[in-house]
Amino acid sequence: MTDNPTNNPEEMDGDRRDFLLISTTVLGVAGVAAAAWPFIHSINPAKDVLALASTEVDLSAIEEGMAITAMWRGKPVFIRHRTAEEIQAAESVDLGELRDPQADADRVQKPEWLVTVGVCTHLGCIPSGQGIGDTRGDFGGWYCPCHGSHYDTSGRIRKGPAPFNLPVPPYAFTDDTMIVIG
Ligand code: FES
Repeated sequence: MTDNPTNNPEEMDGDRRDFLLISTTVLGVAGVAAAAWPFIHSINPAKDVLALASTEVDLSAIEEGMAITAMWRGKPVFIRHRTAEEIQAAESVDLGELRDPQADADRVQKPEWLVTVGVCTHLGCIPSGQGIGDTRGDFGGWYCPCHGSHYDTSGRIRKGPAPFNLPVPPYAFTDDTMIVIG
């Protein structure tokens, strides 16, 4: 007659040890999860920090042909009040000529206002072209002197090593002359 394994005292001890080991492991995982929760909760941004994630800008004092630089999430944002000539130049470009093809109409909400992140898409320099008399490059928008990238009046890359257009950040008009970026 063969022994029933459950009646073997040595195997019963082994089973008990396995049970204790599994119980300890499960409790250990639950303990880590409980300890991690306050930490994970503490790294969620507070409401006041989230509020700073958007920037409100009053456009009313920016005359046609002028530009200002706002700051949003630590980055410069170029806001240009475009002239009729600048709008016409941006709208009349053949998209087939563009490295990063994008229609001007897809980059603006109102043709007279262009809003872009002011960081060159090559290696992150800040292009010139915001101030009166600044070099604006061969296409009348912005020029990055670091390695010679030229952007047009829609902020699209036209010449030089930068691979992409200046990005358009999320923004919304809250009235005729007020925008919230972010
Ligand atoms: Fe602008 Fe290189 S960083 S051209």
